[in-house]
Amino acid sequence: MDEIYLNGSFVPRSKAQISIMDRGFLFGDGVYELIPVFNKKVFLLDEHLARLKNSLNLIQMSDVKGLDKIIHELIKKNIKNTFYIYLHITRGFQGSRNHIYPENIEPTVLLMCEDYPPFSEDSIKKGFQATIQDDFRWMKSNIKSISLLGNVLLKNYASSTGCYETLLVRNKKLTEGSTSNVFIVKDEIIYTPQLSNELLPGVTRGLLIRLLNQNNLKVIESDISQSDLINADEVWCSSSTNAVVPIVKVDSDIINTGKVGSVSMKIYGLAQDFITNF
Ligand code: PDD
Repeated sequence: MDEIYLNGSFVPRSKAQISIMDRGFLFGDGVYELIPVFNKKVFLLDEHLARLKNSLNLIQMSDVKGLDKIIHELIKKNIKNTFYIYLHITRGFQGSRNHIYPENIEPTVLLMCEDYPPFSEDSIKKGFQATIQDDFRWMKSNIKSISLLGNVLLKNYASSTGCYETLLVRNKKLTEGSTSNVFIVKDEIIYTPQLSNELLPGVTRGLLIRLLNQNNLKVIESDISQSDLINADEVWCSSSTNAVVPIVKVDSDIINTGKVGSVSMKIYGLAQDFITNF
């Protein structure tokens, strides 16, 4: 039943093959999206496809048409109601290994369904730990690139230290997490780093800003220093897999009382309601 889409056909996952000469395999030359499907309904598809178009444009690739039709077909084929579509586009096959790509190269297009069970409400209420590292990734983190080695090393650092996430600091400023965007709360105002080439414009980040504004909670997109982070009243991470993940401890620093705060629980609830009712 686990059919995936590869270059024009739906095939069983175990039968899908790509060439070792694919530029995605050899160079990590491509972009991706992770799109939630809740109850058979695809979540914020226009936002994900707009970001994909932008990522493709930023690596000098043309837009790929017809993805929405493939997504709906995959949703129909999947026996599950709630899962994620992983969408992966590489620059394609090239007969010999060469950093320089030819003009007429055909992209490799892969879409498949993946499970990422979200955290339970109980674990959200307890909160999670994070750690801080220098953001040593490249300066185009606004592109949702499949070249994820930096993020992979940083996320595994979190995992090896018993943390949910590694929060990244460059030039004394918070950029994002290794797999998420970050929000802090101080004196009832919510702050998140402003968009730039140093962070991914998270679709969930955009949704949370909208929900906060609609509920008269003030959000400011601005620089956040490491000391702002440590001295915040509340901290949370956002991503498509878990919309709101409260952080109660960063390395040895306890955030406020070490308990998940009311603004975090409020936005968690607003996001859950939105997901249930969209
Ligand atoms: N990652 N920043 C980074 C570096 C990310 O990898 C992600 C998500 C986000 C949040 O983006 P969004 O809200 O659009 O999911 C921010 C996904 C979940 C992944 O790579 O699996």
